[in-house]
Amino acid sequence: MKKLIAGNWKMNGSLAANEALLDALAQGLTVAPACEVAVCVPAPYLAQLRALKSTRAALSAVGLGAQDVSAHASGAYTGEVSAAMLKDLGCRYVIVGHSERRQYHGETDVLVADKAKAALAAGITPVVCIGETLAEREAGHTEEVVKRQLAAVIHTNGHCISEIVVAYEPVWAIGTGKTASPEEAQAVHAVLRAQLKAATDQSARVKILYGGSMNAANAALLLAQGDIDGGLIGGAALKAQDFLTIIAAAHA
Ligand code: 13P
Repeated sequence: MKKLIAGNWKMNGSLAANEALLDALAQGLTVAPACEVAVCVPAPYLAQLRALKSTRAALSAVGLGAQDVSAHASGAYTGEVSAAMLKDLGCRYVIVGHSERRQYHGETDVLVADKAKAALAAGITPVVCIGETLAEREAGHTEEVVKRQLAAVIHTNGHCISEIVVAYEPVWAIGTGKTASPEEAQAVHAVLRAQLKAATDQSARVKILYGGSMNAANAALLLAQGDIDGGLIGGAALKAQDFLTIIAAAHA
């Protein structure tokens, strides 16, 4: 399957900075990449990104993504953004269950699963983030934690699970410069692959991305692992040259 390299800009950007970043990406993407590419940007900038993409041919294949979505369809939920609104703005992807939302906004496994369901119902691919904390890893609970997180999404979404993207993001590797070794990441990805296989006969369609300090220097080795189908890139996605280097490292 084609790999997916998705940037997660987190709460970064401005109208001017976004345009400069997109221009630099367009200049570097004159040859169509071998992988799928997406940028997941702050909700207020989705319309800007859509417009920028439409006037730059090199970016036409770049998928637009959001970073969160409401589990509710519409109504009295002040501040929330629905999956239908994201679809309206041209989103192909939405990140759900990022560890920063689990940690700072109290998102539970059940809520994350409901958000994935809302995205799927609107025809948007949820990029479901799972991953253990350092304490959980050191206690030997990595497998148990990621399996529990994924199980909630499988339970709520049934056979639609074949339409999701999974992102394994060990919390201790996010923004720390400490990446899981390719072997450590591959071991967890293999566990997740087996869990997906048991849940659907379409599991071969499900991409499992790695995220957590993936950068221009370490991407190629991580992406060479058998069960690593792409990357979810934070800091390095804000630097056009680094993001382009990661994209170039993602061969089929
Ligand atoms: P960094 O690449 O900055 O570690 O962030 C990873 C991440 O959280 C992507 O969602």
